[in-house]
Amino acid sequence: MAEFSLDASFIPALHKPPALLPIAKYHDSLLYVIETYPVTIVIGQTGSGKTTQIPQYLEKAGWCADGKIIGITQPRRVAATTVALRVADELGCEVGKEVGYSIRFEDVTSSATRIKFLTDGLLIREALVDPLLSRYSVIMVDEAHERSISTDVLLGLLKKVRRKRPELRIIVSSATLQAEDFLKFFASKSEEQNSLAKGEDEEVGKIISLEGRTYPIDILYLESPAENYVESAIATVFQIHTQEGEGDILVFLTGREEIDNAVQAVAERSVQGGEQFSNLQPLPLYAGLSSEEQMYIFDKPAEGKRKAIFSTNIAEASVTIDGIVYVVDCGFVKLRAYNPRTGIETLTAAPISKASASQRAGRAGRTKPGKCFRLYTERSYEDSLPEANPPEIQRSNLAPMILQLKALGIDNVVRFDYLSPPPSELMSKALELLYSLGALDAYAKLTKPLGFRMAELAVEPMMAKTLLSAKSFNCLSETLTIAAMTSLGGSVWFYHDGEQKAMESSRRRFAAEEGDHLTLLNAYTAFVTKGGKEARFCHENHLNYKSMTRAVSIRAQLKRYLERFNIEVDESLATHRSEIDAKSKAEQIRRCLTAGYFAHAARMQPDGTFRNVEGGTVMHAHPSSLLFNRKADWVIFQEVTETGDKTFICDITKIEKAWLLEAAPEFYKVSSGRAEQA
Ligand code: CDP
Ligand code: MG
Repeated sequence: MAEFSLDASFIPALHKPPALLPIAKYHDSLLYVIETYPVTIVIGQTGSGKTTQIPQYLEKAGWCADGKIIGITQPRRVAATTVALRVADELGCEVGKEVGYSIRFEDVTSSATRIKFLTDGLLIREALVDPLLSRYSVIMVDEAHERSISTDVLLGLLKKVRRKRPELRIIVSSATLQAEDFLKFFASKSEEQNSLAKGEDEEVGKIISLEGRTYPIDILYLESPAENYVESAIATVFQIHTQEGEGDILVFLTGREEIDNAVQAVAERSVQGGEQFSNLQPLPLYAGLSSEEQMYIFDKPAEGKRKAIFSTNIAEASVTIDGIVYVVDCGFVKLRAYNPRTGIETLTAAPISKASASQRAGRAGRTKPGKCFRLYTERSYEDSLPEANPPEIQRSNLAPMILQLKALGIDNVVRFDYLSPPPSELMSKALELLYSLGALDAYAKLTKPLGFRMAELAVEPMMAKTLLSAKSFNCLSETLTIAAMTSLGGSVWFYHDGEQKAMESSRRRFAAEEGDHLTLLNAYTAFVTKGGKEARFCHENHLNYKSMTRAVSIRAQLKRYLERFNIEVDESLATHRSEIDAKSKAEQIRRCLTAGYFAHAARMQPDGTFRNVEGGTVMHAHPSSLLFNRKADWVIFQEVTETGDKTFICDITKIEKAWLLEAAPEFYKVSSGRAEQA
């Protein structure tokens, strides 16, 4: 034909051909080692193709024959979803078909699914139903270097499963060089095996190191410490934009608030700053973003523009973004920390480790030589950054983990084969809490039915106890709603720039003087009744429509769990309740919350701060709480965060002191005078 048009005949490649990824060279040796040994440890820099390519290699090599599937676990939900989308895309299928993902409250898989991405926590839950994980031919524990609690527990379980299923293939993949530790772990005999002392030592596995091709990276330090690293990060971004050559910028900050502020500040300043700043495109990246928002990150910037991505630790290894040439590293990360004395678990910004610092810097040199701007001095890098952060299992509330191990039939939780054993005081604290919640009996055995049900419900132990107590307080329908609304992981209130006041007055329309839980309940009830579950209602009331629909779905899933336990949910919404009825219903709900959250009780002091019952920690109501700047006496709270040197509590409800003693007489007896101290 005459009118041969280039445009019509050529479609630009969507992705870099997988054959060009560093992992391609290792295709044959990977498959050989996986075929030959039960355990394969794969070490390779972020972006080498571990997560997206290995499952595809395995599938093509026949590891999904006879209906078996390949499972790849991720410590983070965002990673599981974005990576599944990417692999589905590469294979040209719809996500949920051959490639799917499964995260808590969201299962996007089908009977056609052969490659399944899921969080490591969710795979542990699957083991409750299928202890040998028999549907899987291969399980790849990805991002193992993060050492999340669930990753550690999963590795211990897989070591056990391997003995009963020698044909199962285990792949551990990590971005840093701890390969030996993982291999030694699988090679060593557990205590149980030692006592059986059988046969020869077999060779359990091999390590494969993927050689990355990275370009040199210049590391630059501050001359003197930054006073405010967010400000300093923004200034650095503008400096790069005006003084450095082409390439996108990746900025590491610690959390959503900081990131939203920075993105907004950059957007505003680039409007005011005129021409030279206007080509900067600031984008956020953190766990709570919707899938569409996440996708912007991967898009090429518009012609002549430069992307500046402000991210949490997610971008350190879990999510790979191409085109980054400049990295700005604030030097901090939000870490979970649990204080066994006060019984409080917080997320606190702490200095990153040297290993993290080099991971972060490494994000810069993927396509050409890069630069990393560290917002700290070289001296503090040398002197005060630890080599590695302790694994999560050594600094978290272990109650959820112990509950799951017990439900998996691992009664001796102290002797379980841990990659790193948790400190004994964290263990005993968690056992004490589970005992006072009624999940364990005096012999530390899981109680029937309460303990087993608590382990099965997909919410943390205190909320599980609350839900399972609700029937007896005659407020099950309401409590289900509260559980769903507090499982959203992020605020349901939504506002654009400059609308905060309007949002707050919307929120006041739903406000209950008893606190946040009842306020959330009111908002949800209005959404499903008056609001007809419609977006318009959310828009008018500054509610996040996506979150609200998610709450409806989570609620339905939790309800199904309860129905499986033969607990009936009476949904006759009492719309014609009198004032007195409403008050007494509210009291039932508050009593019910106390039954689950008695260990999270605090009392307001004359100066308006709170002291928690156990350790006398000084805490403040978070500005997002209804009880911010309000008077109260005793309260229970659900969440704790730390900002700077202040401890904030969120999701707070007023209670009566007497209810605490009713809810947990033993707990308040053990540390006698707990309530008196506060
Ligand atoms: O797991 P690993 O860090 O070794 O690499 P990967 O996640 O498999 O990424 C391989 C390649 O796919 C990289 O070049 C990524 O930039 C790209 N990728 C992407 O463009 N979008 C995603 N959602 C995931 C990966
Ligand atoms: Mg990966």
